[in-house]
Amino acid sequence: MLVSPSILSADWSDLAGAVRTAEQGADWLHCDVMDGHFVPNLTFGAPMVAALHRLTKLPLDVHLMIDEPLAFLPAFADAGSAIFTVHVEAPGVAGPGWPAPVRSRGEGGAGGADGPAPEAKPHAIDFAHLRETLKTIRARGLKAGLALRPDTQLEEVEPVLDAIDLLLVMTVYPGFSGQPFLDAPLATIERAAAWKRAHGAGFTIEVDGGIQVADTGPRAAKAGAEALVAGHAIYRQPDPVQAIRALKELHR
Ligand code: DX5
Ligand code: ZN
Repeated sequence: MLVSPSILSADWSDLAGAVRTAEQGADWLHCDVMDGHFVPNLTFGAPMVAALHRLTKLPLDVHLMIDEPLAFLPAFADAGSAIFTVHVEAPGVAGPGWPAPVRSRGEGGAGGADGPAPEAKPHAIDFAHLRETLKTIRARGLKAGLALRPDTQLEEVEPVLDAIDLLLVMTVYPGFSGQPFLDAPLATIERAAAWKRAHGAGFTIEVDGGIQVADTGPRAAKAGAEALVAGHAIYRQPDPVQAIRALKELHR
């Protein structure tokens, strides 16, 4: 199993320490970029990724939870990102985008407060636009990742699965670490694994949200996860290095 510790859950007053922890067994370092628009939370941008890049040679696995992520591609490329993962639902990725039917919530989350439910919109994907987005990411020399919220089905993005390097299946609504794992996307992971087998496709299936060493990690692995993102399950544990090692052991 590939393991990608999420820096969002680490102690940012000791980023160097968090990086040293990840270097003891992890494969990538997961960087959650949020803009307060696509998701109801704010985190960090390219300068943080650049700082991490100065601290480590670990590939930086950048997860963009923002509107118009391509506008920031040059900045994240220059900052040393290895993987650039965009949400199919986000404005500017595959057309105008569409809001989540469920708002995520979590620690310190202003956006977690109850508000009016977002207007339900059809999932309109402009495949020519989406292909162009993925091509632009690869042309910049980065791995192109495509992320699916729990309300987006694998079948909706099937036409571009041949054009991605990574499929990020979200098992929480994006916006906060420490949310409980949702079961429904397990079917998406299984279908992605079946699609890969059937088509000999090379993309990596990454799973993000609520992953724990016991229960949810093994279930995601059994469904076909090849890379696991973990925030709380690593950085909020008494022995984070042991947690990384335990996640690495998981397999189908
Ligand atoms: C959620 C982020 C996740 C999050 C994972 O929106 O994309 O990467 O940091 O944190 P845990 O593993 O604690 O759910
Ligand atoms: Zn993430």
